[in-house]
Amino acid sequence: MSVTTDLTSKLASSHFIISRLFFWARRHRLASDNSAIGKAVLRQNFIEKDRREDEDIIRHFAAKAWMPYTVLIQISRRCNLRCSMCGWTAWGRNKGFMSLELYKRVLSELKINNVKTVGLTNPQGEPFLSPHAEDCIKIALDEGFHVTTNTNCTPLGAKNIKVICEAARSGRFDIQASFSGFDKESHERIYVGSKFEDTSRKLADLNAALLAEGLEDVLTVNGITMDASTTQKHVDYLAELGIDPARVRISNPDNFAGIVEVGDKQNSVGVFSFKKDLDVRSLRLCNMIVTQMLVYDDGKVSACACRDSEGVMEIGDLSKESLADIRKGARFQAMIKAFMDRNLEGMTLCQKCDIPFGDSYSPVLSEGAAFEKYKRVGLDSETS
Ligand SMILES: C[S@@+](CC[C@H](N)C(=O)[O-])C[C@H]1O[C@@H](n2cnc3c(N)ncnc32)[C@H](O)[C@@H]1O
Ligand code: SF4
Ligand code: SF4
Repeated sequence: MSVTTDLTSKLASSHFIISRLFFWARRHRLASDNSAIGKAVLRQNFIEKDRREDEDIIRHFAAKAWMPYTVLIQISRRCNLRCSMCGWTAWGRNKGFMSLELYKRVLSELKINNVKTVGLTNPQGEPFLSPHAEDCIKIALDEGFHVTTNTNCTPLGAKNIKVICEAARSGRFDIQASFSGFDKESHERIYVGSKFEDTSRKLADLNAALLAEGLEDVLTVNGITMDASTTQKHVDYLAELGIDPARVRISNPDNFAGIVEVGDKQNSVGVFSFKKDLDVRSLRLCNMIVTQMLVYDDGKVSACACRDSEGVMEIGDLSKESLADIRKGARFQAMIKAFMDRNLEGMTLCQKCDIPFGDSYSPVLSEGAAFEKYKRVGLDSETS
């Protein structure tokens, strides 16, 4: 027998033995025990499952010319808060609003390419600080888009509440309020710069105005906490403000692409995270990079919709290029390939981000039924 044949048959037989071992371990439910072999089996199961799912996702998006479901538009780059879970330490410029001229050009590109949902939110900025917020919402609704936005609630005076109620009547608008806390200390430790009583009143006023018109379902509350044991207190406080727990989600934060140290250092993958199962979860295709995309206030585009405030993952410029060229272009496609090769060398944000390990988000501590509408249950789900 030649050396090569000998080696090949040894490899084949060792592969056979390993696969039998996994089969045996699965049969004997070792996957659910905490032993090293149990963890190895679980990890292998996840690697196989994640790869199959990622390949389905790739096929789906390739067949629709790589168009994202939702495009986030940074109508305001400026933010008035410094929340403890947000990536503000990386911000190079805390000012700038997208012009209406550029905004209309962006919408026309999206329309040509059949993108149906625009998100007036992004990794940096409070949308309702833009002097054009009202126009931006109206224009997108008039153009037939579904419009979704977030707010830190501090700009919710009478004028913005009126704008939101009017948008809600379209039936194609929803808003997530970023709010948690049950007293001054617990709120202001997270939403740094917000005043607990003042912001609580504004959120309650918005809720009451929507409730009066039977439109309260457009408002959900997306709250962040570092301390899971206080979750119920956050939910109860929001109920005191008139917000049904069905419209509340409280979660631990992710690590904002490694910019914020949250949870514990997960030595198996070398990132900070609240996710508990990273030992057995593998790197996978980031959901964000395929389903969403971000256009900054100046028209530049990032492949990462939610964690790239500085253009680290820039893939083009919508003030000059078409959306189709950007998504089919070499820069974006190389990023997809890197995920599929499970090799993030050179992708400095993604390497440190906990989002692409295992299932996308950090632990959700409480989530009401209203959040069903945000779940992308299948690959055909085009709206958020
Ligand atoms: C970056 S903000 C931009 C919009 C607006 N300034 C606001 O706070 O709603 C968008 C959303 O990201 C959430 N967020 C910020 N940092 C996060 C983190 N590390 N993990 C999870 N969500 C985070 C905020 O709570 C907010 O709901
Ligand atoms: S989470 Fe929103 S409000 Fe808080 S700092 Fe980030 S962008 Fe500003
Ligand atoms: S893995 Fe990369 S693309 Fe995905 S959210 Fe994190 S930084 Fe953004």
